[in-house]
Amino acid sequence: MKSASKMASLRFRNFKPCVHGADVFEAKAKAGLISNEISDFSSSVNPLGASVKVLEAIKENLGLISRYPDSNSTILRETIARHYGSLSKENIIIGNGSTELIYLFAEAFLQRGNIALVGAPSFGEYEKAVLRAGKKVKYVRLGKDFLLDSDLVISNMGEKVKIIFLCNPNNPTSLLTKTEDLLKIVENAFEKDVLVFLDEDFLEFVDESSKLSLINRVEEFPNLFVLRSFTKLHGLTGLRVGYGVASKEIVEILVKAKIPWNLNCLGQIAAMAALSDEEHLRKSLALVKEEKSFLMRELEKFEGFKVYPPDANFFFIDIHNCGFSAAQLKEKLLTYGVLIRDCSSFAGLDKYYIRIAVKTRSENEKLIGALKKSLQTKA
Ligand SMILES: Cc1ncc(COP(=O)(O)O)c(C=O)c1O
Repeated sequence: MKSASKMASLRFRNFKPCVHGADVFEAKAKAGLISNEISDFSSSVNPLGASVKVLEAIKENLGLISRYPDSNSTILRETIARHYGSLSKENIIIGNGSTELIYLFAEAFLQRGNIALVGAPSFGEYEKAVLRAGKKVKYVRLGKDFLLDSDLVISNMGEKVKIIFLCNPNNPTSLLTKTEDLLKIVENAFEKDVLVFLDEDFLEFVDESSKLSLINRVEEFPNLFVLRSFTKLHGLTGLRVGYGVASKEIVEILVKAKIPWNLNCLGQIAAMAALSDEEHLRKSLALVKEEKSFLMRELEKFEGFKVYPPDANFFFIDIHNCGFSAAQLKEKLLTYGVLIRDCSSFAGLDKYYIRIAVKTRSENEKLIGALKKSLQTKA
């Protein structure tokens, strides 16, 4: 028999996984002697975690695990549709984390010779999903101060482009794109038969997010798909629950293309409980807002940092003038039990950018203390 690697599809032989934050397991092993817990600032999720209502709902429904879940997550889709008012379950698709839907979308809608546009820097899984589908990516660099330049996106919408991946607010920059700019892109894409995949996973952390969301425009724009997740604000990170909102036509194709039973029974139950606990969401948002102000004040005091005022629940910092590369600073901070995201793996960034999540006051103070100690000594 030939070696298995020679039998593998060509595109997977040199396929490299996307780099992410939250590599606490590796970080713990690297830090070796550190006995205290590592505070993970590399992944930007609700510092309060999931609500008590979610935990109770999971406990009450543990008995479900010996049955198949509803393959199409019907009740959860109905619940989400009701949450947005004007939608029906046919506008909603559920994913095993929103990541599954990025891959599903690329696979379902890119055909031979097609290209997808991806912002640089932006979330790395868009590129991976396109490559996994065996198609090509064209990067569009962000404009001045890392803001999306809608005219540049539009001018890059050549004949072969069939999908544009956009992220609002963007990861890793934590910056919003103006609604008028997004709509300009969506309208232009509509004229050119291009689909717009708009990732709003972090939008719930922004004030008045429902006004900024394009979810309620999906029936008006049949080329628009909006991505959401229960990972970030709802804190169901390990359960893997995401969803997409789009026209019935788009959703119907994705439902046909997805694998069966893609979301387990406890994930479905937990997501419904999470949506119903408005008090927990209010508390979480208030905490993030207060801690964001605290961190902004503290982080700006570091001379070598250029801090971009964040729209989402994480900070994007240019550290060119601090005397360390992002990798060096990450390693240094790890010795104090603090894990940050070195952003050098993002397309379009050099090795001098970091991303830091907003956490609870005691953890944020630990971060500031660790930064003070780390920056006293040059690399
Ligand atoms: C912008 C963005 N979109 C999507 C995801 C995927 O999230 P999940 O699969 O946990 O829903 C992430 C995860 O970091 C992200 O940063």
